[in-house]
Formats: sequence, C-alpha cells, structure tokens
Amino acid sequence: MLQTQQVNTPNDTISKITLSNGNETSIVVSNLGATLLNFKTPDKNGKLQDIVLGFDTVEEYFRNTDTYFGATIGRIANRTETASFSLDGETFQIDKNEGENNLHSGPNGYQIRIWEVESLDESSNQVTFKLDSSDGDQGYPGNLTLKITYRLTDDNQVTITYQALSDKNTPLSPTNHSYFNLNGHASGSIENHLLQLNASAFTPIKDSTSIPTGQIADVEGTPFDFRKPKTIGQDIDQPFEQLQFAGGYDHNLVLDNPNLQTAFATVIGDKSGIRLEAFTDLPGVQFYTGNFLNNHPGKAQASYGKRHGFCLETQFFPNAINVPNFPSPVLKANTPATYQTIYKVSIH
Ligand code: BGC
Repeated sequence: MLQTQQVNTPNDTISKITLSNGNETSIVVSNLGATLLNFKTPDKNGKLQDIVLGFDTVEEYFRNTDTYFGATIGRIANRTETASFSLDGETFQIDKNEGENNLHSGPNGYQIRIWEVESLDESSNQVTFKLDSSDGDQGYPGNLTLKITYRLTDDNQVTITYQALSDKNTPLSPTNHSYFNLNGHASGSIENHLLQLNASAFTPIKDSTSIPTGQIADVEGTPFDFRKPKTIGQDIDQPFEQLQFAGGYDHNLVLDNPNLQTAFATVIGDKSGIRLEAFTDLPGVQFYTGNFLNNHPGKAQASYGKRHGFCLETQFFPNAINVPNFPSPVLKANTPATYQTIYKVSIH
C-alpha cells in the first residue's frame, strides 16, 4: 500500500511516502535527499520496531547535515583525497569539507536536495525520485540524471535501485546512509548485534583522515574478519591501529562476491530477534559503527550516542577515483548504469 503526505516548510513542500506490505512492515521515504526516514517491522514478540535512526521533522534533516541519517549520498560517497581528481586529462576540484579532503561530496550534497517525485506505482509498491545534477554541480563534470527507486516487497525486502545517465564521463558512487539498530532505533548500543559479512579483504586507512592507503588487505587474523558470525563489539576495542584511527569500525570492506541473490551481510538484533540481510551488486561496503554519534537528539526524544547505530554503505571503494587499482567508479558518457542494494528483514 502506498500513501503520500505533503509537509510544508518555510521554503518548500516536501513529500513523505509510506510503502507498507501485508506483513506489518513499512518504510517512509522522502524526496528531501531521497531519504529513508522510517523502517518498521515486528520483532520476535510481535512489537513494531523502527530500525533506522532519524528525526521526526523534515526541518531537522535540513539542519543536521553531519550525520546523513538515511540519506542518499552523491555524486561520490565517502572520502576523496585532496578533494580533487583527474579525469580524461582534466583536474577537478570539489569542496574541502574534512580538512584537505572531501567527505560525501560536500555541504551541497544530494542529501539536502529536493528530488522530483517522478513516479508512484501502487501495484509494485514503489516510488522513484529523480535528480538532475548539472555539469559542474559540486565540481563534477557532466550533466547527470540520477533516479532512485525504493520498493517494498511482500517478503520484506526494501530494494534501492540507482539508475544513472551522464553526458560526460563522471565519477559516481552513490550510497544510502541508513543507520540501523535492529533492537529499535532508540535502544542503545549495537555492539551485541551478531554480524556475518562475506568479505575476505578490507581497504586499510592511512590515519585518522580515513583516506585509504590503496592496499587491499586480508581480514584473516584481524578484527575485520566477520566471515564467521561474531558480535559487532567482540573485537571493536582491540588495540589494533586501524580501529584506533576511527574509534571503531569505519572502513570499506571488499565484498567477495557482490550479487543480488546471496546476502553479503547478515545482522541479528540480540534483543529483538530481527534479522537484516543486505545484498548489493556494488564492489564495497563502508561498515561504520556510529563512532562519532555524540548524544544526537533523534526521533521521539531519543538520544543517539556512540555506537547506537551501524551503517552498511554499499559503494565503490573510498577515494577510488584517485586509486588506479580500485574498481573504477567512472560512469561512462551516454551509457546508462544501474546499481542495486537490498535490505531484507525477517525474524531470526
Ligand atoms: C563516514 C564516517 C562519518 C559518517 C557520517 C560515514 O560514511 O565513514 O566517518 O562520520 O559517514 O558523516
């Protein structure tokens, strides 16, 4: 079922769209930032839990631009070293918003854009948002049209489909920045959640700037080995330099076999029994454990502290546009591309 609500803010009218299915699962998405606002599903006791962090009002999404709760990030998610890159013999400069580097494409990112509601499709329970990002927008080349479709299926899959077309070669690595807490958004630390992740390698970072060294390192024998299930917290405070740089996990893992049929990650909420499975056809995932959350006021008077949510941000690797041995994030001119990420919930 699909319902639309219009919210008037001083300058704009924002849409909130609810998609629900017959299993009491529902999501609310907005054309402000093509953001996932709510994701509700019953826990093992049949009690509805909202499993994503966020705000009650759209104004707060405009104001709080450092957490990126539920937002779509583009054109490039994650870090770009020196906030510059070369493409086809030309150098491009984007905003320096994290020291000398760029994070999430800067303050004028896609997370605060008002996307067009291009289509609402009741029969497939989906909504498509569209953004036209002109040549030079944020400093990137090419007129880019990006469409994002959110769909909720009857078997509790939230599919996020990115469709992109540019008239010039341009880097593109969009992500969804949802913070999950499978015990419910306001239920504290995620460190006792159980995680299994099919990644045999990760991209180590140079220091606390979180810029990758360019190496692809084996997870074997490190806290980054989640190939067999373990709690998120089991090794998070180990005296391991990579973790100390970021105050926990905030690293790109290299997916063994990115595809839409086999989950790359399975996470279980220890109190709720809610299981999240994630699928993608993108090569990497930033596993971020909310290390920088600092008692952030959230939905329903919640206060989100350090490690109260985790993100599985599917993407090309951080700084890939500057690292030749990482898979290329370049979207070729006049060549449509489609990427997909799926978050599926069930009871463990
Ligand atoms: C980054 C974190 C950052 C968070 C919110 C994540 O994608 O890797 O370092 O704190 O986004 O901006």
